[in-house]
Amino acid sequence: MGVNPQSPVLELDHAHDQHLLDTMCTAPASAFQPHDKIRDLRAANLFLSLTTIGLFIVTLSLLAMEKQSQLCLHSLLLDDDANVCNGTKLAFENQLCADLEVPAPQAGGNVTNGYIGALEVDVVPNTLPFYQSSMCPVNVHWHLGSEHYSYGQFDENGDGPHGNIPRPEWAARTLTEDKHEELQAGFRCHHYNAADPKFTTTYDWKHCKGMDIGETYEVHWPHSASGACGTVNQYQTPHYDGIFCKLDMDTFSTLAAQDIANAIGVQSQVFTVVNDESYFYPDMMRGMIVDEKMGMGQDVAFYTGSTTGDTRSNEVCSMYTPITWQVDRKCHLISASSFDKLCYDMKLQRDDMSNDLHPHGSRELVSDDLVANNQARKDLR
Ligand SMILES: *[C@@H]1O[C@H](CO)[C@@H](O)[C@H](O)[C@H]1NC(C)=O
Ligand SMILES: *[C@@H]1O[C@H](CO)[C@@H](O)[C@H](O)[C@H]1NC(C)=O
Repeated sequence: MGVNPQSPVLELDHAHDQHLLDTMCTAPASAFQPHDKIRDLRAANLFLSLTTIGLFIVTLSLLAMEKQSQLCLHSLLLDDDANVCNGTKLAFENQLCADLEVPAPQAGGNVTNGYIGALEVDVVPNTLPFYQSSMCPVNVHWHLGSEHYSYGQFDENGDGPHGNIPRPEWAARTLTEDKHEELQAGFRCHHYNAADPKFTTTYDWKHCKGMDIGETYEVHWPHSASGACGTVNQYQTPHYDGIFCKLDMDTFSTLAAQDIANAIGVQSQVFTVVNDESYFYPDMMRGMIVDEKMGMGQDVAFYTGSTTGDTRSNEVCSMYTPITWQVDRKCHLISASSFDKLCYDMKLQRDDMSNDLHPHGSRELVSDDLVANNQARKDLR
């Protein structure tokens, strides 16, 4: 566009621009004084040229951003295919333990210091912190009561608002009356005191479901080197999708038992939930709480076993084995708000983790003949 105000082309442009101005803006033409008209229009012309280009660029980038965000929203939230881990679980059905020719070491077992399982295995557990083996947490979930057994911490002498479970019959001890519950429960810790309000005062749960103050829960953080580590798809429910995200059956079948124990593992920590903010831990999402001063994650049992849950027992074995277990032997107090914050964080994940926002049932304590004999002890620092 020319800059000579005498140019007829420019006059034409002025008229054109005035028309544009009238249609685009609500400012009436009478706002311009007649004697200033040319100068004003010249200025308006220059202004408009610049703003038009500017507006054009802004519009384009807004459109691009909108398209981008629509694309992002679409691919992140609406498109099932974008969750690259969905359905990647490799399916291994539970088997009758007695039918197995090759023994399948199980979890959770006794993790009391000094305990050694009775199932002879060649594989050793991965005793490094999992992040040092390219593993990342791919899920977090918890069980009602403890699946593991740590004498003096979570065992038959613990208690809670719904009582405890007895020492198993196979461990040759007298049985007490079992409490009937909807979920198959595990052992409770020794902290519970019905006279102390922090174990009894109800909490207004906003995000977790089916939780009780004073109750014991065993939290599991499955880790995998084949997870979608560092991406929006890292955390998955079911956790098997997280574990096997980048592992297909062909590759899996080339792995030796030791490769599996090195690359797949679960961190486990047992808590009694209290209504007391002095036990608040803001981040239960990224793994076991390790705090030297509080004695958390300091006394850890290492062994190889399987996945757990109440579909497995001492008759029905999990075939997801041998994976490494790193189990904190101590039971810790934790605030209800810590769990509720965890559930909040879980709701923020790309995958729908709603199936893990409540406690799961516990497997019965694994009998000695199904527990690997490779227990190791080491500080996780
Ligand atoms: C994920 O996979 C399952 C089965 O593999 C399928 O039923 C489901 O529709 C898929 N999508 C989501 C978002 O879960
Ligand atoms: C667990 O192991 C400890 C140490 O070996 C032992 O004293 C205890 O009786 C075991 N508990 C059960 C239930 O087997």
